[in-house]
Amino acid sequence: MPGSTSLTDGQRSDFVRDGFVIVRGAVDPELAVRARDRILAAMPPTERRLLAPAALATHPEITGLFRESRVAALLRREMGPFPDVVSCQIAVTPGFDRLGGKPFPHVDGGWSGPIPTRAEDIDPERGRPRDAARWFGANDDVRGTNDGLLWQDPDRRIALGSYTALVGIALNDQLEPGNGQFAVLKGMHEEVEAAFRMQRESGGVIGAEGPGWPRIRIDEEGRPVMNGLPAGIRAKAREAAATTPRVEGWSWPELTPILLAAGDAVIALHSCPHTATPNFGPNPRMNVYFRIRRLREGNPHEGTRRVGHGVSDHPDRGYFGQFLDYPDSYDPWTTSIAKLCDHWSEWDFA
Ligand SMILES: [Fe+2]
Repeated sequence: MPGSTSLTDGQRSDFVRDGFVIVRGAVDPELAVRARDRILAAMPPTERRLLAPAALATHPEITGLFRESRVAALLRREMGPFPDVVSCQIAVTPGFDRLGGKPFPHVDGGWSGPIPTRAEDIDPERGRPRDAARWFGANDDVRGTNDGLLWQDPDRRIALGSYTALVGIALNDQLEPGNGQFAVLKGMHEEVEAAFRMQRESGGVIGAEGPGWPRIRIDEEGRPVMNGLPAGIRAKAREAAATTPRVEGWSWPELTPILLAAGDAVIALHSCPHTATPNFGPNPRMNVYFRIRRLREGNPHEGTRRVGHGVSDHPDRGYFGQFLDYPDSYDPWTTSIAKLCDHWSEWDFA
C-alpha cells in the first residue's frame, strides 16, 4: 500500500490539539470494495445492528482492512506496539436512519442498557436507578437487563473500559455532512482527561458514578438519559464551537463531522468523545471500527483471543465480561487508571 506510514509534524500537532486525525487513502480501494460487498451480502442495510455476525467481524478480509492498511504501520510508529486485531465493529447506518434524531457523544467503555423513564426513579447523586436491582440485576456484577459491564474491576473503583485509539475506516463516501458521519467533540479529550484526574485525586470512582459523572442524568425535558460523558463537557464543546463557522446541513455545532471518502480512516483518542449521527441520505453509511490498545508490558493476556482485541472496549476483562487472572506483579486496574489520567503517555511520538 503506497503512502506514508507516519504522521507529518502538522498532523501530529493537529492530533494533539483536536484528539483525532484523518488519514486519507489508508486502505487499498480494492480491499475496501471487497469488504463493502461482503458486508452488504451478509447484513443487508435495512436496519441498524449493534453487533455484526461474528464470522463476518473476524473474517480476514474485514480485519485485513486494518491489518493491511497503512494505519496499522502508522500506529506502530506513532503510538507503539500493539497485539494483533482479531475482530472489529461493523457499523452500518442504513439510508434515512435518523438514529432517533439525537446524537449521543460519549467516551467508549461505559455501560448501556434500558433505564427508567421517570426522573423520580433516579437517585441524582450517583445517577443510579433507585430500584437498581430491577435494572442492573441482583447485584452489579450479575447481568439483569443490563448489557455490558457496570464495573471493570471487582472492587468497583473503575466504571469505564478503555483503550488507546479508535480507528474508523470508511467503506463509502461520507463527504457531505448529514450522511451519518462519525462525529467528535473536537478538542475535548483534554477535558475528559482532566475529569478522570479530578476523580482520581478525590479518591472516588473513575468513570460513571464517580465525582462529577452521574451514570444517568435528567435532561432538559426532565427525562432520564444515559450520561456518556462527565458533566459539563458537551456544554464546554458548545462554548468552544460558538466562535467557529457553522457547517451547512449540520444541526449540532459542538460536533465536528468527520468527512471521509471510501478508504480513508480516522484515528481518535479513546478520550475524544464521539458519536454516530443521523443519516439523512439514501446510502448506507458504512464504517468499520478497530479499538487498539498499546501493548502493556507484564500483562499476560496481551493478544489472547478471548480479550477480543480490535473490537473490545474493555480489554482488562474477557470480551464477554469474564474476569481474567492476573499475577501480583501486574495490576490492570491501576494501569488503566494511570493511562486514562495521562493519555499521551501511550504515544511514542508525544
Ligand atoms: Fe462509541
